[in-house]
Amino acid sequence: MKFFIDTANLKEIDEARSLGMLDGVTTNPSLISKESVSNQKEIQKHYISICERLKNDENVSAEVISTNYIDMIKEGEKLSLLHPRIVVKIPMTKNGIKAIKYFSNKMIKTNCTLIFSTGQALLAAKAGANYVSPFVGRLDDVSYNGLNLIQEIKNVYDNYDFDTKILAASIRHSLHIIECSKIGIHAVTSPINVIYSLLNHPLTNIGLEKFIKDFHRKIK
Ligand code: E4P
Repeated sequence: MKFFIDTANLKEIDEARSLGMLDGVTTNPSLISKESVSNQKEIQKHYISICERLKNDENVSAEVISTNYIDMIKEGEKLSLLHPRIVVKIPMTKNGIKAIKYFSNKMIKTNCTLIFSTGQALLAAKAGANYVSPFVGRLDDVSYNGLNLIQEIKNVYDNYDFDTKILAASIRHSLHIIECSKIGIHAVTSPINVIYSLLNHPLTNIGLEKFIKDFHRKIK
């Protein structure tokens, strides 16, 4: 399973790289707004810096802000020209679906974001999205089981020969990642702290402490 990191922060991207857990990056307008960028030029430079931290088969999802079809196309084309590793992130709307179809015909990669139902994932796949991003945590927040959605999309995609990959998003804790890996989807995108939380088990800490204590008791 691929581990994408859900951040626009260069330090966090470098941290994930040094842990050996970086297969790609997803950003969104809220994450971009947390960085020290205040105009379009700076945002573009920031996306390029992210792309330059990635390897050839890795990519970064950069989201359009426009909501009407023509502007989505213009903005997405500009984003895709910034760097070959850019995947244009498009929201799940009627115009978004039309834009995904347009980009798919032009061989420009897309990630359809804000997916909250199987029907939306089906439409995105039919339009030719390279990725769909179902939001697990935000569904949990409103008392729907987000992981059920992941399983259902996987079942539907397995019935056909769509090339669209499931990139589970809005990941909040380690169990989300583990359950996604059991379902067998292509990738998850999560904050770095959730990746770190996979490391933890109290018996590991207790065991390590005992090994070191036993060793030093005998060997000087
Ligand atoms: C998806 O690509 C989004 O960037 C992201 O996963 C949203 O997560 P949140 O619900 O924690 O904001």
